[in-house]
Amino acid sequence: MTTDATTTGPGEALRPHAEDAFAGELRALAAADDRPRPERWRLSPRSVATYLLGGTLPDGTVITPKYVGPRRIVEVAVTTLATDRALLLLGVPGTAKTWVSEHLAAAVSGDSTLLVQGTAGTPEEAIRYGWNYARLLAHGPSREALVPSPVMRAMAEGMTARVEELTRIPADVQDTLITVLSEKTLPIPELGQEVQAVRGFNLIATANDRDRGVNELSSALRRRFNTVVLPLPATAEAEVEIVSRRVDQIGGSLDLPPATDGLAEIRRVVTVFRELRDGVTADGRTKLKSPSGTLSTAEAISVVTGGLALAAHFGDGVLRPSDVAAGLLGAVVRDPSADQVVWQEYLEAVVREREGWKDFYRACREVAA
Ligand SMILES: Nc1ncnc2c1ncn2[C@@H]1O[C@H](COP(=O)(O)OP(=O)(O)O)[C@@H](O)[C@H]1O
Ligand SMILES: [Mg+2]
Repeated sequence: MTTDATTTGPGEALRPHAEDAFAGELRALAAADDRPRPERWRLSPRSVATYLLGGTLPDGTVITPKYVGPRRIVEVAVTTLATDRALLLLGVPGTAKTWVSEHLAAAVSGDSTLLVQGTAGTPEEAIRYGWNYARLLAHGPSREALVPSPVMRAMAEGMTARVEELTRIPADVQDTLITVLSEKTLPIPELGQEVQAVRGFNLIATANDRDRGVNELSSALRRRFNTVVLPLPATAEAEVEIVSRRVDQIGGSLDLPPATDGLAEIRRVVTVFRELRDGVTADGRTKLKSPSGTLSTAEAISVVTGGLALAAHFGDGVLRPSDVAAGLLGAVVRDPSADQVVWQEYLEAVVREREGWKDFYRACREVAA
């Protein structure tokens, strides 16, 4: 979306859209791209994959990795968008479904804002179109009175539409997408017209496989999608890389110190998250109970960002155990009674005994007290 210069100056948005935040990289990729591009795509599929996974262009421009994970996943996702099937990104919370969807739309169409947020209350109009009632009453139903949904705009302009949390949308509203995805048309019975999708149109949906909802995705709709499952980070190193990279980006926009100073604490947070999530210590020796929360990578990112802010404002700017302990406790203990027991056991049986973790153990004890 083009931002109104009078409301938001360049670089002013608290969270710029991917196509703005990485405009330089996208321009460099387009300039270096000598492969065929599908109709209305800004980049070739290969360059879209490079944008997501990172790389170095022939002229030396460095493309930062946005997604850290199996290359094949990204290749399949990008390729799907160049076919007549839509893309469904599935995974547990915090596996970068929204993030990947935004970056794919930015790289393919140069616009990640044609977005429908799925909730239990998402109405059909959010997917089809609504009416400007003042115009409707004054002039009757006409194209001028019609307010197109993001999906309708994407169809008309050959762009990428996004639907977040598809399975939270009521089944009958979801079904609106069947015609869109199979016939590539959106009928407007009030006007006796239709909007036909032009080449370049496709849709990325995300869904949470913890939501009871997934099974409610009708098989008719499911068939229109190619499903790509985003996994949790395979190794602790990969997860540390994801967290520190993202924390640096967020921290930069909040004027926080670089996360590299706190790599030891980031490793610790990731270790705690992974051990509790997996229900076993990293060395495989001690079985653990898992808390009720998801302990996603996204939450690890929040814990570290919060810790850095504490270090910057109330500490010496370096991330220390006491800066992450409170955030960590908040992420782990969601259910005050059950999770509290899980955490106490972990603290006493694992953290306390681990070499080099004494300061961290003390910090955790202090916030728990
Ligand atoms: N594999 C990954 N690669 C890069 N970033 C990741 C990865 N996994 C999680 N993240 C980060 O986690 C954050 C949350 O991801 P999000 O897209 O909101 O998750 P989801 O939509 O799957 O719940 C994003 O800021 C993203 O940078
Ligand atoms: Mg999401």
